[in-house]
Amino acid sequence: MTRRLLVTSALPYANGAIHLGHLLEHIQTDIWVRFQRLRGHEVIYVCADDTHGAATMLKAEEAGVSPETLIESLRVAHAADFQGFLISHDNYYSTHSPENKALSESIYLALRERGLIFTRGVEQLFDPARGMFLADRFVKGNCPRCQSPDQYGDNCDACGATYDAMELGAPRSLLSGATPERRTSDHYFFDLPQYTDFLRGWHERGAVQPEVANKLTEWLDAGLKPWDISRDAPYFGFVIPGTEDKYFYVWLDAPIGYMASFANLLGQRGRSDEFGAWWDRDSTAEVHHFIGKDIVNFHALFWPAMLDGAGYRTPTRIHTHGFVTVDGTKMSKSRGTFINASTYLRHLKPEYLRYYFAAKLNGTVDDIDLNLEDFVARVNSDLVGKIVNIASRCAGFITRLCDGVLAPALHQPELWQRYRDAADSIAGCYERGDTARALREITALADLANQYIAEHAPWTLAKDPAQRDAVRAIATQGVELFRMLMLYLSPVLPGMARATEDFLAIPPLTWSDLDRPLLAHRINAFTPLIGRLEAEAVERMIADEREAHVDVSAPAAASAAPASSDVSAIEPFKPEIGIDDFARIDLRVARIVAASPVEGADKLLRLTLSLGDSERQVFAGIRSAYDPTALVGRLTVVVANLAPRKMRFGTSEGMVLAAGPGGRDIFLLSPDSGAEPGMVVR
Ligand code: 2FM
Ligand code: ZN
Repeated sequence: MTRRLLVTSALPYANGAIHLGHLLEHIQTDIWVRFQRLRGHEVIYVCADDTHGAATMLKAEEAGVSPETLIESLRVAHAADFQGFLISHDNYYSTHSPENKALSESIYLALRERGLIFTRGVEQLFDPARGMFLADRFVKGNCPRCQSPDQYGDNCDACGATYDAMELGAPRSLLSGATPERRTSDHYFFDLPQYTDFLRGWHERGAVQPEVANKLTEWLDAGLKPWDISRDAPYFGFVIPGTEDKYFYVWLDAPIGYMASFANLLGQRGRSDEFGAWWDRDSTAEVHHFIGKDIVNFHALFWPAMLDGAGYRTPTRIHTHGFVTVDGTKMSKSRGTFINASTYLRHLKPEYLRYYFAAKLNGTVDDIDLNLEDFVARVNSDLVGKIVNIASRCAGFITRLCDGVLAPALHQPELWQRYRDAADSIAGCYERGDTARALREITALADLANQYIAEHAPWTLAKDPAQRDAVRAIATQGVELFRMLMLYLSPVLPGMARATEDFLAIPPLTWSDLDRPLLAHRINAFTPLIGRLEAEAVERMIADEREAHVDVSAPAAASAAPASSDVSAIEPFKPEIGIDDFARIDLRVARIVAASPVEGADKLLRLTLSLGDSERQVFAGIRSAYDPTALVGRLTVVVANLAPRKMRFGTSEGMVLAAGPGGRDIFLLSPDSGAEPGMVVR
């Protein structure tokens, strides 16, 4: 029976770059999606950027652009990163969309209609200088338990206490430095406790993994609380119907963003009338969400309750994974292990990481460690050494000795049958998300093929022209086993699977191609599908990431460009400066007379700037956005009196000014035409 599956990965925040954490989840989802498609099911895989909230508003303000401009540039960058990792989203949309607005409003109104919404006054910290209420991460003060200074509004780094921001001693706003006031405003609440029994039943019906169900039971036993779904203006989001200055909290419209991205896709495909067939209560389609363990409460409490309350079906399954660590510890910017997707792709092939993550994911919520040494070893020994090697050992004989045509029969049908018999077990592993076990079974099959080839040593037989048929039979068997392995691995290694189809001159592989060996068929010459993973390339990637981190504060792109990928990072409050301070900054027009890449620093360009009467060298972190040759001759603005700074590759004698979110979107500030190098900028 063909299943209809709507699949999602959690929506990345529109406030930073895509990094290893997002990649783990999207790779996990994509493998599951590709497996289901391979089996012939109808799959729609959607995602979007999660755009709303005060953080977006503040970040856009800081960058001097509208929130819409900021989120669109990030959306484009995120979609490109995911494409680079061969993630096969059918739609990568935005929560700031007309579909999401309409759905959020209608879901809210339906909940209100059902008596599931109420309002009550809430007292919170208010920044009088900025005229806004302060979310916990925008306020710091002394921990109410241990008195440690400089702790955020929700928990203490020093003693681990969790508390309400209003309990902080000597609180100060991170946005303005002002001392916050206590103010009360009306908030809208979703009456979650009414859903306690419903949720208990839903969890027990297998919508979540057992360890997640245990956690949920704890929460349900402790008692649910009403959920605050509103935020006061100013906020970037959707206004709550019937109000003028209350907005939906970002976490209300974020999961509705799954539906909205799906609705948008149906619209693009002229199939909008099918929406109900997927989302109505009696839908026979399945809905699968892949998420990290930190957002289980949103997906397994609020979301199903909201959906049911508004008359929709609930998700079929929430697939929860753990966190990513690198070499056993939390990803770290200073160690260079907070690896961004774009940095990775500049150094390494996406399929190495897909393979490694697949080898580690087992369908539980355990954390996944990217051990860099093991990464290199495993990719080279298993993927390159055991799997790709089979084709390279056999294909040449078919091309050179057999005119490219495979033998008409299998040499060892029993061995082929062992491959065929593994199909159900491997499929079961993929279905459960235990790709680690799937890969172990597939690698064990590859071991059998390698033994077979070694035992029959076609290279020895090939020396005797009388043995040509035997060589052909052995090589054909090898090529066929390789085809089966690549079919099994195609959800993990889609690029290599496509290259295998080209090599074998066959249409796209499907699960039913396991039923029939490829025989008496002309294939193309084999070109290696993937090379070894070089440890040096991994080291260069880490050095590059470490460099990028250092460069943010180096005289590179100006601080107007929030090039860091800090989740929820808001620049700490910078004190006001007077006109005298500003006058101390010598801003000049400069002409770029030479630009070149910097060996060993993939983010940097070495610029030679002419200031009219003198030339100087400046390193700028703008390589991701500019081809050096295109910069020569351009005018830009430079901070000319910045103290020289010694870097690994030379001394930087100034800073060029740029704006933008980073990646391909770094805009070098240029003076109007008519300006001359050396002119003072005011
Ligand atoms: O935790 C996060 O990164 C959120 N942006 C995930 C949202 S998932 C969904 F509910 F929209
Ligand atoms: Zn404390």
